[in-house]
Formats: sequence, structure tokens, C-alpha cells
Amino acid sequence: MLVLGVESSCDETGVALYDGGDGLLGHRLFSQVALHAPYGGVVPEIASRDHVRRIVPMVRDLLAGCGRAVADIDAVAYTAGPGLVGALLVGAAVGRALAYGLGVPALGVHHMEAHLLAPLLESPAPEFPFIALLVSGGHTQLVRVDGVGRYRMLGESLDDAAGEAFDKTAKLLGLGYPGGPAVERLAATGRAGRYVFARPMTQRPGLDFSFSGLKTQVALTVGAAGDGPQTRADIAAGFAVAVVDTLVIKCRRALTQTGLKRLVAAGGVSANRLLRERLDEMAAGMDAAVYYPRPEFCTDNGAMIAYAGYRRLAAGEHGGLGIEARARWPLETLPAITA
Ligand code: KG4
Ligand code: ZN
Repeated sequence: MLVLGVESSCDETGVALYDGGDGLLGHRLFSQVALHAPYGGVVPEIASRDHVRRIVPMVRDLLAGCGRAVADIDAVAYTAGPGLVGALLVGAAVGRALAYGLGVPALGVHHMEAHLLAPLLESPAPEFPFIALLVSGGHTQLVRVDGVGRYRMLGESLDDAAGEAFDKTAKLLGLGYPGGPAVERLAATGRAGRYVFARPMTQRPGLDFSFSGLKTQVALTVGAAGDGPQTRADIAAGFAVAVVDTLVIKCRRALTQTGLKRLVAAGGVSANRLLRERLDEMAAGMDAAVYYPRPEFCTDNGAMIAYAGYRRLAAGEHGGLGIEARARWPLETLPAITA
């Protein structure tokens, strides 16, 4: 079964072809970063309009690059949410229309499920069950995963997501959008011990997160310390270590509480090298293993949508003729697949 995946939930246009027998055949990604950078963040209308321009040429280029014809596509998987509705509608409309024209099924994929399953594109792939740490721009979640669609939310952020904390800190430090990679680069030149930030909610039991207080602490520190280049680097380093420590403490707790030995980290923030180092160290100390997507599949991409869609389509699931786009869509409401 050859599945075309289409991602357009935010500021990246992604398309990919996943084949049930041969695996991932290819993918294409266009990042709109340069379009939104002058505004300091994603402008939804600009995002939607650019998806309109990109998707069809990218699908053509992908098919040509993979040596496939449009008629070879057996099913289409598109991101149906959560995300920016206008942006989602573009990929959903193209995906649904293409499937209709070809007379093949289409399926609306849950963006966070796709992030969560992305490490299954790698080798070795984690076996179920595992704990998933989902850390993106809009979500910070710890999920017990017993199979595709068998999700139990163990904890999540009560306010800002980890990626959002990186983005807001970047703004406070005068770095551009997107914030995560910029803060990571600056932090690498800083001393983490000079400014010590809180590890929110690690002192009490439970697996929830709260990152909104950190930006206030960063803002106060920037205000008090001034903004010399070394000072800004030291603040970035202190902030990054605080977020990473907090995530690692909660992951360790989730593994201990469930007795599971496999952890998956996915979503944009899982590209962060310090987070990967610290998670690996923590897991090694408790005889556990951590699985990540390759860095380009940590952030938004079409490959994870094609793969998640393939898993559900191959199990016989498909959507109706409607175009699905949802701003909010709780992960735990997804049905389990039987295959
Ligand atoms: O998964 P993603 O591409 O999009 C969403 O589904 O939200 O995640 C984007 C988020 C942004 O907040 C970005 O700043 C953050 O992931 N991010 C990072 C890094 N790369 C991306 N945060 C920290 N370190 C990174 N290297
Ligand atoms: Zn994402």
C-alpha cells in the first residue's frame, strides 16, 4: 500500500510517500521560517497562503523523485489537527480532493500521534509498550503507549508547552523566531551555573508540567542583569538546563511508576542535543533505552503523517468524504487499531 502523507498544520509544508513493503520512499519539506521571521512568530494567514502555493508542486516533485506516478497512490493521509485551522484546511482539501479524484481512501491524521509514532520509522524501532515524551510548540505530554491508538495521558503541561517556553525565552533574549534552535545555539556558549532557574513542579508528586513561570523568571533576570552578550548566553544556558532537567525528572518518574524500560522522545524540542544527552544518561542509569526520530523528523514533517496514516489505513480505517480540520483534538479520544 502506497500512502501519500501531507502535513500543513503550522509553518511547515511536508509531503512524503510511505510504502507498506518498502518503507519510506521519500519526503519533501518546505519551512516557512523566513516568511514569518519578520513578524517574530507564525502569522496564520501567511502560513495558509504559502501552503496553497507549495503543496501541489511539492507532491509532483516528490512523485518524480521517487519514480512514481500519481495513479500509484493507494491512499492519502493528511494532518487533520490539532493545529491552525486555516493551514490545516489547505492540506486537508488537497489530500481529500486528490483521494477523491483517484478513487482511493483518505484519512485525517492526528498530528501528535504522528509525532509519537515517528521513532517507529527508525531502526531499531521501539516495541510497545513505551512511555512517550511529546515536546512540541503546543504540547508537553507524557503518554503511556500500549499500541497505535492505545494512549493513556500520564501528565501534561498545565500552561505553556516546553517549545513555547523556548520561543518566549528567545524573544526575551532578543533572538529571532523560531526560538528553540536559537536558544540552543546561544546556550552552548553560556555557563549554566551563573543563573539558576526553577525546575517547576518537580518537588511535588505527579507528572504534570508548568513552564509559564520560567518565562517570568527569565524576564526578571534579563531586566536585572542587563543584556551583555555573555550574560544573555549564561541566561540561555541556565534556562535550557532548567527545562531539560525538569523533563528528565518527569520521564524518570514515569518510567519508575510504570516499570517500563522504553522511552520515546518526539516533537520539535526532542531535537535538542542537551535534552537527548541527559535523557540518554538517565536511561542508562536505570537500564532503559530512549528512542528518537532522526532530527529532521523531530520537527514537523510529512514522513510522520504518511507513516501514522499508513498504520491506520492498513488496519482498514479511513475517513468519509468530508474535509476534517480541528484546532483541538485530544489524543486519548483516538480509537485503538486492532492490526
Ligand atoms: O513539533 P514542532 O515542529 O511543531 C509543533 O507541533 O509545535 O515543534 C516546534 C517547537 C518550537 O517551539 C521550537 O522552538 C521547538 O519545537 N524546537 C526546539 C528545538 N528545535 C525546535 N526547542 C529546543 N531545542 C531545539 N533544538
Ligand atoms: Zn508538530
